[in-house]
Amino acid sequence: MSKHTEVQEYYGETLQSTEDLKTNACCTMEAPAEHIKAALSLIHDEVHSKYYGCGLVAPLELKGKRILDLGSGSGRDVYLLSQLVGQEGEVIGVDMTKEQLDVARKHIDYHTDKFGYKHANVSFLEGNIERLDELDLADNSFDIVISNCVVNLAENKEKVLAEVYRLLKPGGEMYFSDVYCDRRLSDELQRDPVLWGECLSGALYWNDFLRTSRKVGFTDPRAVKSNAITVENKALEAKLGDAKFFSVTYRLWKIDGLEDECEDYGQAVAYKGTIQHSENSYQLDDHHIFPKGKVLTVCGNTYLMLHATRFKDHFDFYGTWDTHYGVFEGCGGAMPFQSDRQSGDAASCC
Ligand SMILES: C[S@@+](CC[C@H](N)C(=O)[O-])C[C@H]1O[C@@H](n2cnc3c(N)ncnc32)[C@H](O)[C@@H]1O
Repeated sequence: MSKHTEVQEYYGETLQSTEDLKTNACCTMEAPAEHIKAALSLIHDEVHSKYYGCGLVAPLELKGKRILDLGSGSGRDVYLLSQLVGQEGEVIGVDMTKEQLDVARKHIDYHTDKFGYKHANVSFLEGNIERLDELDLADNSFDIVISNCVVNLAENKEKVLAEVYRLLKPGGEMYFSDVYCDRRLSDELQRDPVLWGECLSGALYWNDFLRTSRKVGFTDPRAVKSNAITVENKALEAKLGDAKFFSVTYRLWKIDGLEDECEDYGQAVAYKGTIQHSENSYQLDDHHIFPKGKVLTVCGNTYLMLHATRFKDHFDFYGTWDTHYGVFEGCGGAMPFQSDRQSGDAASCC
């Protein structure tokens, strides 16, 4: 049986609800912000019951945006984002498992009504995220691509990321949560259908993920949040040995001019405090938080992630590209995740 068929069976038949998961890999550990909690509360129970995500994939500043969700499952994140993009925005989900698509599609009218929309702003396509070129999706046509605990299930991860790069508009981003490992896993583990289906043995070694991202054009991947996955299943833990797993939210920007190292051009930015739901400070990633009004020096790449994106109007920018002062101190290097579960996060399993 092919990997795809195995995964389809796992998510279409073996798992009937989140209760059937055998590990905590497909569990969301982050406590959502109040506006996200409010939006989640409007989503149909059946959609929630078949949610298997490992993170929150709702970045800020989404009004009117066009979003693609890779591996949308029962549609939880699509319906969450449907509310955040508003009536003028659009969210498209892609999944290959018919049973999950059926649940997602069944509740389109329910949510259109519930959100007070005149017409649906969501749709669900049946398709393989490793063959996005076979769907009728134009180059440079999405502001944001999200995905929640899915890329690890793809055999050809490079193909997925390369297609995402093609589909994103310049200045757009892939904002996605997935499972990563602290090492490369053996073929034997990768052949285990339960370990693969539970989002563990398909997990990329984090450094290979960074290499692949850079290769397809996402020159400076930024981690936003990470949590250690504890597996919590003795038999599966025994098979996995010492391998350690993390669920990590990354943002991959499609921006011309990003460099492979953080370089110092003497630039700085100040946040205006104008992003809805984040008025006191704006968090770009796990090592860049911009308090309102404070001028902070930034590397050229961070400058571009604010200046060449939908966040431009929310910042004042200082400096030029005229003078290079050397490498920007304070970025990069070691394994970017902590080995303990992130403190302060309430675990809310799936
Ligand atoms: C762990 S679940 C996550 C679902 C959803 N993102 C959520 O948060 O509930 C994985 C989903 O990805 C889908 N999937 C896995 N590999 C896929 C592929 N190559 N193409 C399309 N969908 C895929 C599965 O059908 C399943 O619905």
